[in-house]
Amino acid sequence: MAQLLDGKALAQKIQADLAQQIQTLKAQLGRPPGLAVLMAGDNPASAAYVRGKERACERLGIASFGQHFPATVSQAELTEIIHQLNQDERVDGILVQLPLPDRLDASALLNQIDPDKDVDGLHPTNLGRLVRGEPGLRSCTPAGVMRLMQFYNIDLKSKQAIVVGRSILVGKPMALMLLEADATVMMAHSRSHNLSSLIRGADILVTAVGRPGMIAADMVKPGAAVIDVGISRITDATGQSRLVGDVQFEAVQSVAGAITPVPGGIGPMTVTMLLQNTVSSYCERLKSQPGD
Ligand code: GUN
Repeated sequence: MAQLLDGKALAQKIQADLAQQIQTLKAQLGRPPGLAVLMAGDNPASAAYVRGKERACERLGIASFGQHFPATVSQAELTEIIHQLNQDERVDGILVQLPLPDRLDASALLNQIDPDKDVDGLHPTNLGRLVRGEPGLRSCTPAGVMRLMQFYNIDLKSKQAIVVGRSILVGKPMALMLLEADATVMMAHSRSHNLSSLIRGADILVTAVGRPGMIAADMVKPGAAVIDVGISRITDATGQSRLVGDVQFEAVQSVAGAITPVPGGIGPMTVTMLLQNTVSSYCERLKSQPGD
């Protein structure tokens, strides 16, 4: 039976440490860290994620400067808000919740965020730093995957890793982080041929597709570490709505060496890395305060 990689438990531990760190630093900086989550429209999944992020901020003592806009908000309005937040001394992190309504140009908005406040790690400057292996704010979901694997001592050096899904939010930065950790990395996607046999060759499988149950037990190399980033809401045979991943968890856990559950795996780690990035950005500001 595979070892369960308990993202929820690790997230709680890291968040407890961050809460303590915030208490100490607040006395030095005279203010708490601040995070602004911007959301447009009413995608229910996004609304749930944003609520989760804001609740976590409240628990840790991070001030929220988030704003929720109607789907009709203009590009110019959002751009102006981002510029204001860039200048706002109380704000250490800015995140634009994706996806945005189709009308809006997400990339153009992300480009407006001050890279030092880009706690989602999606600004070209931070993605460029990742490509170059330089320090910088890293995308939260892949950073959460790396932290969870590190905690469970999953050896990446010289291992075959495959990332299924090539989004800018997960797949691309994930592949770069695995590469940085000396894995031999393959990226697979919807146009890849022989996906099953590619996956079967991997010691580390990270799947971020959003297709419930697409990874079956016979696709997984025995003993592999299986990281399920996919998250979809389904209605099961009993009519109950629940969250599931890309991986057929019950079947795959008897083949894999280690596996993340959904929920309780990478989801809580993503939120935790966002909080961690916000605190890191806050610490950088503390360091650069005049007189220190
Ligand atoms: N939508 C789903 N996950 C994320 C995330 O980590 N960051 C942003 N900005 N949007 C998301």
